[in-house]
Amino acid sequence: MKQLENKKTLYSGVQPSGNITIGNYIGAIRQFTLLSDQYNCLFCVVDLHALTVRQIPAELRRNTLELFALYIAAGLDPQKNIIYCQSHVPEHAELTWILNCFTYMGELSRMTQFKDKSARNQDNLNAGLFTYPVLMASDILLYQTSLVPVGEDQRQHLEITRDIAERFNNIYGNVFVVPEAYIPKETSKILSLSDPLRKMSKSEPDGAVFLLDNADDIRRKIRRAVTDSDAEIRIDIENKPGVSNLLQIYSAFSGESTDEAIGRFEGQGYGQLKKGVADAVIAGVEPIQKRYQELIADKGMLHQQMMNNAERARQIAARTLRKVYKKVGLYQG
Ligand code: TYM
Repeated sequence: MKQLENKKTLYSGVQPSGNITIGNYIGAIRQFTLLSDQYNCLFCVVDLHALTVRQIPAELRRNTLELFALYIAAGLDPQKNIIYCQSHVPEHAELTWILNCFTYMGELSRMTQFKDKSARNQDNLNAGLFTYPVLMASDILLYQTSLVPVGEDQRQHLEITRDIAERFNNIYGNVFVVPEAYIPKETSKILSLSDPLRKMSKSEPDGAVFLLDNADDIRRKIRRAVTDSDAEIRIDIENKPGVSNLLQIYSAFSGESTDEAIGRFEGQGYGQLKKGVADAVIAGVEPIQKRYQELIADKGMLHQQMMNNAERARQIAARTLRKVYKKVGLYQG
């Protein structure tokens, strides 16, 4: 990669924990493609994070390669960006241990995602779920990241990352760049189609459209999307979350603003709106799916690219970790 010195670093990650939704795409992956020219970018398949929920090993392996392919299919170039798998860079786990010692039980207990996930995983309330944000902080801080594009649900994790970085810097000098979150309002929380009071999520397939869904499934799911009874097409997240969500999905895939979308569908009824949204989503995912099928047909090539990129990531990560080890007083010879 031509590491242009004058570009800042952008970092983000997605878990390979199942089918990628259009929420992941609109809130994260698509944002990456829009920003990637302006930054030195790293995009991670965060397989270690996925282990906080029990995984079927063969599926996790498959999902990891598939997500790697999806990043590329969505338009991220693995030569220009560093696209890699978290467990291939052992520095993530190593820095996590150090940062665990600079993170308080109290602040981790306040994480709403921990509270949600622990309520849903009563039978597997493991320590990894609790320290999950520290691993995420390590991902980000290892690469001296300035900007982290994520969805709204990750805001708190970015705040704790900043707190950890500032705490560490206050003791040891400027070791870490303190990152900013990038969370655009309109796209950062795509809602479930079946329950528009909740976010669209991989773990709730009923309300989710997946990036690799076929056209019939996309049409069927969008046709069934929950709306409301007043038939008025406008953005009003509080009172009309279902319709607002459809407009935002349409806007993300068509490239039109939500105002333009409202103009287009005004007075036409929800049936037409849903048809328009489905058409836009299908047209948007089609080229990604086509490219994805070509890429996944050559697993050897994907594997090779993944290994090369891990090597490039490691070089950067090792530099930061060495500095941290030295600062905290670990004997390095
Ligand atoms: P994950 O895998 O749950 O989700 C990946 C990204 O998709 C965003 N997202 C959404 N955006 C809008 N609407 C939705 N309905 C929606 N659902 C998900 C998420 O906010 C996220 O940006 N902890 C992270 C992964 C991670 C990470 C990192 C991110 C690990 N290390 C370092 C950034 C930097 C997660 O579980 O994302």
